[in-house]
Amino acid sequence: MKRIGVLTSGGDAPGMNAAIRAVVRKGIYHGLEVYGIYQGYAGLIEGKMEKLELGSVGDIIHRGGTMLYSARCEAFKTEEGRKQAIEQLKKHEIDALVVIGGDGSFRGALKLCEEGFPAVGVPGTIDNDIPGTDFTIGFDTALNTIIDAIDKIRDTATSHERTFIIEVMGRDAGDLALWSGLAGGAESILIPESPQDIDQIIERIEQGRARGKRHSIIIVAEGVSTAGDVARRLKEKASIETRVTVLGHIQRGGQPTAFDRVLASRLGAKAVDLLLNGESGKMVGIRNNQIVVNDIRDVLTDRHNVEESLVQLARELSI
Ligand code: F6P
Repeated sequence: MKRIGVLTSGGDAPGMNAAIRAVVRKGIYHGLEVYGIYQGYAGLIEGKMEKLELGSVGDIIHRGGTMLYSARCEAFKTEEGRKQAIEQLKKHEIDALVVIGGDGSFRGALKLCEEGFPAVGVPGTIDNDIPGTDFTIGFDTALNTIIDAIDKIRDTATSHERTFIIEVMGRDAGDLALWSGLAGGAESILIPESPQDIDQIIERIEQGRARGKRHSIIIVAEGVSTAGDVARRLKEKASIETRVTVLGHIQRGGQPTAFDRVLASRLGAKAVDLLLNGESGKMVGIRNNQIVVNDIRDVLTDRHNVEESLVQLARELSI
């Protein structure tokens, strides 16, 4: 093993730069050459790559986004696309690849492995929806961005005695909604993993009002519904007036938190260790603060679950 490549793929996540930095510096520390591949698998197919030096990844640990750019690539799902990608890797004499991204990116990495090219995965997505790791890179930062927004909305919700509905990202997973709702003191948290019907939400708002609560915050995971739709149903069924905030891509940006920087550094470095040990088809993760290694195949077949005890806790504390 002389030369490895690194790419970021799928939705960007704060902390990806710290992971790239760790891969590059750990690789160089162990005498490897590290190539940065631009625009994910799309750039790989087109051969958009260059050698990164120690200084290439200086001054990025604190920056959101990804210096390698990212893309969602349809062409890589085809055999022809992957053939071109492998040709590019061979042409540039790259021996193995580190893929930083989410499950779509790992599906691509596994295909590469099956076609004989060594690759390992580093979980980077704000959604925290990857089995085999307690946390993904970017989740903590996105969570803090949401909390900042909830705290601000709470000020105006209190002043005007209003019900606010805040829609957060997470794709099909409820982690961002659950953790932000818990940390932000939301009255109701709607997540795909624990469905509630509109009557339960109405009952909660009405019970709160009966006890003198004059405002409420409802967090809706995008995997459940839109905030606009929840607002419409509350109005139609119970004449409850609300205001809606959709946080959108704000959740994907910003300086990574210290937690995400450290996590990204640990996971990126471990990915290089795996390649140096001749491993392939693995994804690094963190479990109980220990760095762990999973088979990508298991990651792709297992189901991610929200922490059930947190669902119960949120229910108990939001009465
Ligand atoms: O996977 C990260 C994520 O931000 C999801 O939370 C969201 O559903 C999706 O990406 C949005 O994707 P795009 O940026 O392509 O609109």
